[in-house]
Amino acid sequence: MREHDLLRGRTDYVGRTRAAPGSDLYASAAQLNELTIIDTPLSPPQQFYTALQRAFVQGEFVKLGLRAYDGTNRDLKTIDIKPVIVKREPRLSFTWHYKTRDVIRNHALDDAVTELEGLVGSEFRLAQLATTSGDWTLDFQGKTPRLKQSAPATTAPVSMSHDRQKDRALPAAGRVWMRELGIADKGGEVLPTAQDKFRQINRYVEVLAPLLKAIPEERLSKVCDMGAGKGYLTFAVADYLANTLKSDASVVGVEMRPELVTLCNGVAAQSQLSHLSFAQGTIDAFDCAGTSVLIALHACDTATDDAIAKGISAEAELIVVAPCCHKQIRREMETANARSPFDYLTRHGIFIERQAEMVTDGIRALVLEYFGYETKVFEFISDKHTPKNVMIVASRTKRARDPRILEEIAAAKATFGIRRHYLETATHLA
Ligand SMILES: C[S@@+](CC[C@H](N)C(=O)[O-])C[C@H]1O[C@@H](n2cnc3c(N)ncnc32)[C@H](O)[C@@H]1O
Repeated sequence: MREHDLLRGRTDYVGRTRAAPGSDLYASAAQLNELTIIDTPLSPPQQFYTALQRAFVQGEFVKLGLRAYDGTNRDLKTIDIKPVIVKREPRLSFTWHYKTRDVIRNHALDDAVTELEGLVGSEFRLAQLATTSGDWTLDFQGKTPRLKQSAPATTAPVSMSHDRQKDRALPAAGRVWMRELGIADKGGEVLPTAQDKFRQINRYVEVLAPLLKAIPEERLSKVCDMGAGKGYLTFAVADYLANTLKSDASVVGVEMRPELVTLCNGVAAQSQLSHLSFAQGTIDAFDCAGTSVLIALHACDTATDDAIAKGISAEAELIVVAPCCHKQIRREMETANARSPFDYLTRHGIFIERQAEMVTDGIRALVLEYFGYETKVFEFISDKHTPKNVMIVASRTKRARDPRILEEIAAAKATFGIRRHYLETATHLA
């Protein structure tokens, strides 16, 4: 018999439905508050589960990690468990980390413990529980299970309200597109797997809102979102324009992958966002005439430059880009013949990556300024949620082109040994 099978009997002391009511050891979840951990007669696993349940009930649960996988699934690595609120109920959210994907499942406390009983001691040899009152490690790597307790690494209570929809510009409830794009469930609750995306959508709308409001109504007629992908942010801007600003502006998402265009047009129809459409094609070939707002979020490498060039040639009022990778300039910097005072930085992979990012986006901002745009470059969301978090916002002014900016661009290129920035080609500057 395996260790965790032996442990089945331990459920008596925590008041689970299998326990015999009336038994001296029977306790309801509420009574767990009064339980104290004693060295006998509980086995190490029993003490561990008692600590776990008490922490959950008392709101002291921080996290639980299952480590040292010893099972038969070659792809399964670890499991991380955290407390969450789902439909106003406290739950334990299990993230199963496989080699190439994560799977999340939420459980009520009792089910969570049943699940853990089946895992800890047989498939995972180590369970590490962090609570605000103490940390616990249950170790099955030796002949017998051992329990170690230590002072808490964190004493800050964990916020379980991972879904503060009421404060959001675009709450999930009632939004067909959020449901259809896999952000929310049928009840309008944000799915645990879509929390970051949901936060990103709302942050993006928060950033965009004052910029859109600053455009005079008669000049806000067409928004182009270049490299729309699955359309999350295209839907967000279309929804915000139609339902919050009550604007008639049309929104078009341009995407080269036909299957995404078909999907998004279907969801737009279902969502009754009649001013929103998606067009299949490449950014450089798209006719942007009449565009008032040009957006490109995480369009790959030079696709961002194609998008900026389209916005400039359409004389868009607003150009908003969140660049993605910066390969073109990185390649230029790597193959530069000229010696640069920054060689000591660019000889390290991670530094050249960061440097290429700053140089690429710095020159993009200069080119936009040359064409009369006022630019701001900032982090629009914490890098906890995405490393692609730099945003360039350019607002059109009536300023005349200033040749000194071209000199600045030339000097920047010379410093880093760059022969050509793709945006210069796309805007016919070089
Ligand atoms: C990383 S995704 C970003 C999607 C979306 N903008 C977002 O932020 O969620 C980039 C998308 O741009 C599309 N894309 C890249 N280069 C493109 C181009 N030159 N023309 C049209 N679409 C392009 C890709 O197919 C992909 O769907």
